[in-house]
Amino acid sequence: MANVVTKAVIPAAGLGTRFLPATKAMPKEMLPVVDKPAIQYVVEEAVDAGLSDVLMITGRNKNALENHFDRATEIEATLERKGDTDRLEKVNYSTDLADMHYVRQGDPKGLGHAVLRAKMHVGNQPFAVLLGDDIIDSRDVLLKRMLEVQAGRNTTVVALLEVDPSQIHMYGAAAVETTDEDDVVRVTGLVEKPDADVAPSNLAIIGRYVLRPEVFEILERTEPGKGGEIQLTDALQEMAGDVEGTGGVYGVIFRGRRYDTGDRLDYIKAIVQLAVDREDLGPGLRPWLKAFASNLDSEKPATDNGH
Ligand code: G1P
Repeated sequence: MANVVTKAVIPAAGLGTRFLPATKAMPKEMLPVVDKPAIQYVVEEAVDAGLSDVLMITGRNKNALENHFDRATEIEATLERKGDTDRLEKVNYSTDLADMHYVRQGDPKGLGHAVLRAKMHVGNQPFAVLLGDDIIDSRDVLLKRMLEVQAGRNTTVVALLEVDPSQIHMYGAAAVETTDEDDVVRVTGLVEKPDADVAPSNLAIIGRYVLRPEVFEILERTEPGKGGEIQLTDALQEMAGDVEGTGGVYGVIFRGRRYDTGDRLDYIKAIVQLAVDREDLGPGLRPWLKAFASNLDSEKPATDNGH
């Protein structure tokens, strides 16, 4: 088995119902986070970690995703004619970013089923999975560290984040044991979206995984679980028991900045958090935001609309 991770898989077949009507005719992955579609942050993260072979698992109504990472000759020609090199660079950047591949999920049978669709492309080597709802701040390191741990231990690695216990029902939750490395734990069990009172811990799986290819055989026989869907968490629970010598599952505890674009409130927060740190937008946004927030505190109506 070739042991080096070269491929990233990005499941992007979800319907985005939480964002209707915005997602009626447009994939949720194309929603802008500041001025880039959410999906571009995720592809950039994979490439930044050295994984430029990207397989996206898509579905119906997802053509915009393929178009975004392809040439846009009409726009390019117009910008060239105008001599607008800055914008032309931005357009070309996403075209040249990665070696993109696409496969459709077909039936929406859950995350485990989506990952199984990558079997042909990935073959018999470990690979990364990045979920589009989670954006990891590019100033903080996660995937690179996971790849390092995977290479060292030749095992399956998940990203874990400590969340408030009241939030754990929205995630896969991990039971863990410490290791000799401060940010690495051995995962002894996983439960998909448990109620807070039965959760094994408040360590939540966030959407980054480095999986050994044995996961495919396990997913092929994984029965539908939570929500009637084939859950990746259930397959990983089996791997955590070190079946067939796959080395078990380890977790990298992430202590950096992570933005959730999966629901409307967190999406708004993500945009504000990322925009205040931007050199082009931060200086204008920060003072306005402070004034707006103090108006909220004093319950006076906000009058300054930023113009
Ligand atoms: C999926 C996984 C869950 C994980 C989460 C991270 O759930 O099934 O284990 O904690 O992603 O974002 P989803 O949010 O797609 O329902």
